[in-house]
Amino acid sequence: MQRAEPLKFRAVRLIAMSESILIVDDERGIRDTLRAVLEDEGLAADAVASGEECLKAFERRAYGCVLLDVWLPGIDGMETLAQLRAGGVDAAVVMISGHGNIETAVRATKLGAFDFIEKPLSIEKTVLTIRNALRQRELERVNAELMAELTEEYAMVGESVAMRALRKQIAVVAPTDGRVLIYGESGTGKELVARAIHAQSRRAPALFVEVNSAAIPEELIESELFGHVKGAFTGATAAKKGKFEQADGATLFLDEVGDMSAKVQAKVLRVLEEQRFEPVGSTSLVRVDVRVIAATNKRLDIEIEQGNFRADLFYRLNVIPFELPPLRERLEDVPLLVEHFNQKFSAAYGKKPKRFEAEAMEVLQNYSWPGNVRELKNTIERVVIMKSKMRVSVADLPPVGGEEPPAASFRFPSFKEATDAYHREFIQRKLAEAEGNVSRAAELMGVDRSHLYRRMRALGIQGRSERGVIS
Ligand SMILES: Nc1ncnc2c1ncn2[C@@H]1O[C@H](COP(=O)(O)OP(=O)(O)OP(=O)(O)O)[C@@H](O)[C@H]1O
Ligand SMILES: [Mg+2]
Repeated sequence: MQRAEPLKFRAVRLIAMSESILIVDDERGIRDTLRAVLEDEGLAADAVASGEECLKAFERRAYGCVLLDVWLPGIDGMETLAQLRAGGVDAAVVMISGHGNIETAVRATKLGAFDFIEKPLSIEKTVLTIRNALRQRELERVNAELMAELTEEYAMVGESVAMRALRKQIAVVAPTDGRVLIYGESGTGKELVARAIHAQSRRAPALFVEVNSAAIPEELIESELFGHVKGAFTGATAAKKGKFEQADGATLFLDEVGDMSAKVQAKVLRVLEEQRFEPVGSTSLVRVDVRVIAATNKRLDIEIEQGNFRADLFYRLNVIPFELPPLRERLEDVPLLVEHFNQKFSAAYGKKPKRFEAEAMEVLQNYSWPGNVRELKNTIERVVIMKSKMRVSVADLPPVGGEEPPAASFRFPSFKEATDAYHREFIQRKLAEAEGNVSRAAELMGVDRSHLYRRMRALGIQGRSERGVIS
């Protein structure tokens, strides 16, 4: 699905859209009066005299709301309602009954009726109920639209072996409620994976609550996570629920867990062990049912060795580990991602999608993408905004990762800058080929490993040693 116009305009249009109403009653007087009243209110209405005619009417057009009499000749109102629902009709149904009858009202609600009004009909109450029913329906529709937009916003693109395996793993793990720890370099899609797990879990209708431990000042994080009572500290003028409580019955995404202080780690550990905690300044325990998905771009095993991260917390969080491969290890996904972002940003900026020439695509596919998918996304957004012509050639690409593509080396002012740029590109490609392993890259290039290291340091290129550690 493409975003044709900005979301808020679409939502407004939906709210403003009027829908027509179908009146179903065997009494002619009621049909005529209701129709006249609704038309005076600016609402379009049709009227029929039986359940059978109601079902037929829905074959012709979709009504937003049905006023449905319970007592009807032929199939009655309840049966009509059941058949409408069985046929997938999602109109808001308001039942009309001759005598107040709780049992009928309950049955109608179970069948999905929106409300129930009694004869003799009060005009005011009828109009109000219909307006409420229409508003409710519109809200539900807007909500469904927004959910679809979100699903699209968080779509995971990629058909590489690694991405397919990742999707499989998500499908297996999502329904289990098991704790997940996602490791991956910055921009590899950790948040997307967390959202996908939530979306495919039984907690999907509930909230996906996010906390980024790195983005919140140290002195606020405890209150952010666990809430506080009024007067717990200067500035705590009212009690506030923390993220753990907001995520009760839902999913809590603990982003950048590697950045939590020792104190917060201890408190989080306790929630994970006991599913309860004390808000800041309170002595009473709050009990919660939270599924925790954590993410980090730090190697927690090393953080543990260095005494920065609690091993017991690591084991609690790391029930199901996910490791996201950097983009340079799945460069075959680059064309799909380029196309995805090309479509997305072109639509968002109201432009025709661009056509990437084969050579331009090749340059993009040969780059090592140290900023991973986020870097690629930003690159394509820039191209879509800055370039007015349809075709994108190598020369139209922004300098990926701060370097010029090789063909543009002639633009450099000095010999040194040109050769440095070339060397940087060459080394990065070889590193990508060697999956980040410096020794193997040195072998591929036919140079000494220590020589390569020196060049990399001089050029500011990061690499990975054999232990898989960023050096
Ligand atoms: N496979 C993918 N398909 C489509 N978009 C993706 C994919 N992976 C990442 N993205 C997009 O790239 C951006 C970065 O992804 P995300 O925020 O999930 O990364 P991250 O691993 O959480 O990064 P950081 O460590 O910097 O927080 C987001 O805009 C996301 O929508
Ligand atoms: Mg993130």
